[in-house]
Amino acid sequence: MEDLSLHILDIAENSIAAGAKRVDIRIRESRREDLLSIEIADDGSGMKQDMLKKATDPFFTTRTTRRVGLGLPLFEQAARAAGGECRIVSRPGSGTSVTGVFRYSHVDRQPLGDIAETLLTLAVGNPGMEFTCRRQTDDADVFFNTAEIEAELRGAPIHSPAGIAAVRKSLERLREGVTHAVGNR
Ligand SMILES: Nc1ncnc2c1ncn2[C@@H]1O[C@H](COP(=O)(O)OP(=O)(O)OP(=O)(O)O)[C@@H](O)[C@H]1O
Ligand SMILES: [Mg+2]
Repeated sequence: MEDLSLHILDIAENSIAAGAKRVDIRIRESRREDLLSIEIADDGSGMKQDMLKKATDPFFTTRTTRRVGLGLPLFEQAARAAGGECRIVSRPGSGTSVTGVFRYSHVDRQPLGDIAETLLTLAVGNPGMEFTCRRQTDDADVFFNTAEIEAELRGAPIHSPAGIAAVRKSLERLREGVTHAVGNR
């Protein structure tokens, strides 16, 4: 996998498969602390303890179409390769949170990539679900929320042309506005 935004898409797809109604993505990039952390939290079905233990094993999957599950193992591998780690907290019936921690300056840290494209894919492809994304840097804090956009659309679906345009517009800040959008939320 090329960049972290694609990992985020993959981890969020697990949330969707787990029946989540809401997915909260939080990205913290701190050059000062030499830290990048990415959390994907959902309110889906969660995992029992034994399943959670197996979740980062590439040969474990509850999929029936393919015998290996690679989403979590690849994310964990990406974090470890960048001097970090992956933590998963999950409770059956209440949800799952997956956090990857990376050393920001590590030569093997994958770039974040196009986070806006990931959010666009998730938001437009899953109408009726709520996605939020908070992106924080040392000097900026940008927030994206599909529920806010839907409220402004007054009934037009998020996958309609008007909906897609509104999502794109809102994502502009998330994509490049971080360096100069202090407190923009
Ligand atoms: N957010 C989640 N909520 C509930 N169960 C999860 C969640 N994330 C992962 N799992 C469980 O862990 C297993 C492994 O996930 P992983 O993403 O590594 O592989 P996969 O989704 O099965 O296959 P792939 O990601 O390669 O398409 C899943 O099959 C699922 O049972
Ligand atoms: Mg997966």
